[in-house]
Amino acid sequence: MNPDLEKLQPYPFEKLANLKAGIVPPADLNHIALSIGEPKHAAPKLIYDAITNNMSGLSVYPLTAGSGELRTAIAQWATRRFQLKEKSLDPERNILPVNGSREAIFAFAQCVVNPVSDALVLMPNPFYQIYEGATLLAGAQPYFLNTTKETDFLPDLSAVREEIWDNCQLMYICSPGNPTGKVYDLNLLEKLLQLSEKFNFVLASDECYSEIYFDETPPPGLLQACAAVGLNDYQRCIVFHSLSKRSSVPGMRSGFVAGDATLIERFRLFRTYHGSAMSPLVQAASTRAWQDETHVVENRKLYQEKFARVLSILGNSSTVTRPDGAFYLWMPTPYDDVAFTKDLYHQCNVTVLPGSFMSRRAHGINPGAGYVRIALVDSIEVCEEAAQRVKNFLRSHVKGEQPVASGN
Ligand SMILES: Cc1ncc(COP(=O)(O)O)c(C=O)c1O
Repeated sequence: MNPDLEKLQPYPFEKLANLKAGIVPPADLNHIALSIGEPKHAAPKLIYDAITNNMSGLSVYPLTAGSGELRTAIAQWATRRFQLKEKSLDPERNILPVNGSREAIFAFAQCVVNPVSDALVLMPNPFYQIYEGATLLAGAQPYFLNTTKETDFLPDLSAVREEIWDNCQLMYICSPGNPTGKVYDLNLLEKLLQLSEKFNFVLASDECYSEIYFDETPPPGLLQACAAVGLNDYQRCIVFHSLSKRSSVPGMRSGFVAGDATLIERFRLFRTYHGSAMSPLVQAASTRAWQDETHVVENRKLYQEKFARVLSILGNSSTVTRPDGAFYLWMPTPYDDVAFTKDLYHQCNVTVLPGSFMSRRAHGINPGAGYVRIALVDSIEVCEEAAQRVKNFLRSHVKGEQPVASGN
């Protein structure tokens, strides 16, 4: 067996299942799961139609590089969305379709990391758990950059010592962030580009939540920062995008990577051997999805309305604030986040994810402790009901009463 498997931590949802085991919530309240970031809005009809109209694809072995139509649709979308220089994103050289961003985020580290003894992969903390697992199985060590209220939930680059940058081979960033919802502005992205050039490491930007935001201005992306500084070959940069959240189709498993042509060429080779080509049906549906913006605008509106309603309920009883993007509330808890999660489930039949399950102790603290992640993925009505229960629970905690676990 690969000994590095022993280094993997139980996944947060396994920890959560253990935490809830044996607890019996009130039978008169239906269960509301706000723990998993699985979009629940209806899948767009154009995607259904494209899948059913392309069943003949079942008889064809797909290419790792995907179809030209799909890569062209992606290049056009990304060029528009991130204001890239026309033709700088070549569908042949700068783009690869992937089966959702998760597998690509994992596989990319296996492809680019040279497992020498001091190899480091930098990542935010708390973080999407795949960054850590990918790092450990690639034979490198994770180096965590705590993102706390004090750092405005962004990595403090000035706190990283020179020898850490020297050993950094790859850095994952995530914007809008999971779980904090924080967006990296162009200024920060440009600083990262300078560091990546100075210390010669690869920047891997997880932008799977880029289309879910609440202000008029869409979150910038890493390729956009490249374009802004004239780095039109995207050297050392890779971005990960997904239809799971943008188009509410987590079961379709569709995303793409884009950026540096040399990295894409190596990754294509890796994936050819790995055997991770996208199904032709999914390619056809993905082409349609990247060509259409109407369903994305509607999807985003649903999140905007949901967040407004939920925050109007929770606003007075908690210090939780609206994120910049993504669909999570990163809510401070009045006491230990694990105990809070357990009590909330026990008394209100609502499941959230303890923040400390998404982070590691680093530099003397666990930056996820004292927070829970609340995924507002369900319908507006269900999320409102959950918010009422959380509000009552918080109020009763302040007053020291038994919580009134009902929707009123
Ligand atoms: C930060 C982040 N990156 C990547 C993913 C993977 O998404 P998918 O594989 O569906 O594209 C998720 C899923 O929740 C996520 O939260």
